[in-house]
Amino acid sequence: MRLTLFAAAIAAFVATSADAKTVLITGSNSGIGLEFAKQYAAKGWDVIATHRRSEAPESLKTLLAKHPDLIHIETMDVSNHEQIDALAAKLSDTAIDVLINNAGITGDFRNPAPQSFGTLAYDDWENFMRINALGPLKISEAFAPHVKASEDKKIVAVSSLAGSFGFKGPTMPGGYWYKVSKVTLNGYMKNVANDLKGDGVTVALLSPGQVKVEKMGNVNFPGLIEPSESIGGMISIIDGLTIEDSGAYYSYDGKPQPF
Ligand SMILES: NC(=O)c1ccc[n+]([C@@H]2O[C@H](COP(=O)([O-])OP(=O)(O)OC[C@H]3O[C@@H](n4cnc5c(N)ncnc54)[C@H](OP(=O)(O)O)[C@@H]3O)[C@@H](O)[C@H]2O)c1
Repeated sequence: MRLTLFAAAIAAFVATSADAKTVLITGSNSGIGLEFAKQYAAKGWDVIATHRRSEAPESLKTLLAKHPDLIHIETMDVSNHEQIDALAAKLSDTAIDVLINNAGITGDFRNPAPQSFGTLAYDDWENFMRINALGPLKISEAFAPHVKASEDKKIVAVSSLAGSFGFKGPTMPGGYWYKVSKVTLNGYMKNVANDLKGDGVTVALLSPGQVKVEKMGNVNFPGLIEPSESIGGMISIIDGLTIEDSGAYYSYDGKPQPF
């Protein structure tokens, strides 16, 4: 009897492992990406945690030590198309249920001049577009076959309220390159949503709110929320997405976000 129960428990464990869903997260070594990795691992998902560093970052090594069977650390600079294609080829047999385009740059918020009218640093523009807009487009294209092969078939991109020119409330001053890179990202993902709808792939944009990430240090201001709240909210939205939502843009709290 004991043996039978033991065998049943093993069978259940094997079935659960085999049935585990898979998420790929870009820029997963800090801030919002790291919190996504932590929360999906806590849900028992396989997490392909990507970063752009020359060595695996400590934050991801720590997460791997906690979930050795679930965390898979991979290198992928989202502005490096060879690295993107190489990882897509390496993972060609892996179905990806949820692809999260999270990696992005904002610029140094302590030094707004390079993105402020009157002191714009034009040489910075290309880097913002390459990382924040072209990166998610290229990654969505390279990994579309992996997503199509999965059960959930979802692609999301982390955009920003700063790029919502339809928002009626107070807006962030300056931020020229950042804001328009997110507008461009939104446009690309709307197009990808149209192109992949026939394959049953749901593509959505998410606004995380103003999230207190490590790089902000001790800075605090009204409306700043903890990563656990923002990412918990975004995961609930992702869980609930259906093909009818494809092309939609949601705030972390579930409200529609204006483009
Ligand atoms: N925090 C907020 O309040 C907020 C609000 C709206 C939108 N967002 C968006 O949320 C996303 C995550 O930002 P965050 O606040 O979590 O900032 P963060 O802590 O600076 O995280 C950004 C992540 O993106 C990675 N990254 C940057 N360039 C990359 C590249 N070329 N290839 C691969 N990875 C790259 C960074 O890697 P390194 O560590 O190597 O630099 C880091 O892991 C961004 O798209 C950002 O625009 C954040």
